[in-house]
Amino acid sequence: MFKQLPSNQTECVEIILNGQSLQVTKGISVAAVALSQNLSYTRTTPVSGSRRAPFCMMGVCYECLMVINGKANQRACATYVQDGMQIDCQQGVGPAMENNGSE
Ligand code: FES
Repeated sequence: MFKQLPSNQTECVEIILNGQSLQVTKGISVAAVALSQNLSYTRTTPVSGSRRAPFCMMGVCYECLMVINGKANQRACATYVQDGMQIDCQQGVGPAMENNGSE
């Protein structure tokens, strides 16, 4: 559905998206990667589990929350890819909040 436009930026970084290694253009947002990879969602809601995906692309709607480098609730549209970054779709409140106070 989404396709990255040609760019003069040729430098790439390697990321891990949902366990899959990818080479992506340096300087693009995590949300842009998610959309260009046709992810059907970036997070699920904590109450109903319904799927959500990037909407505003400017840090306002919080629909793009993902787990980035093990930290939940990171806005994918406001986070730029970095070499070695590990990115996962967030299920509900995410792993960090699930572990809070449970032990
Ligand atoms: S897409 Fe709206 S906050 Fe990221």
